[in-house]
Amino acid sequence: MRYAIGKSSEMREGESKAVEAGGTKLVLYRLSDGFYATQARCTHMWANLGKGKILNDACVQCPLHRAQFDIRTGEVKEWANWPKGVQLLNSVRPEKALQTFPVTTEGEDLYVEISE
Ligand code: FES
Repeated sequence: MRYAIGKSSEMREGESKAVEAGGTKLVLYRLSDGFYATQARCTHMWANLGKGKILNDACVQCPLHRAQFDIRTGEVKEWANWPKGVQLLNSVRPEKALQTFPVTTEGEDLYVEISE
């Protein structure tokens, strides 16, 4: 199902923001080539990726243990690695990609597609 999630003019390149669509919490990103959306919670220990950093027009870095995910695909680029010792936790929290959601534009309007 498709949900309206705002206007393209509300975000500048390199920004992200939390949005909700049909009860699903997402993070919306504006990169150099368009808009992307991922699930809102990190797959490691559920930190809020809306407070993460966008790195190199490509990845979001989790604010808690610094896992990095490709925003366009959800792929893990680097797993949780901070602070020292978090690797012990990783034995029970193995790498897991983020779910991504297609974002489309119609004029100024942004829409996200969420499968039921
Ligand atoms: S919660 Fe995101 S890396 Fe641990």
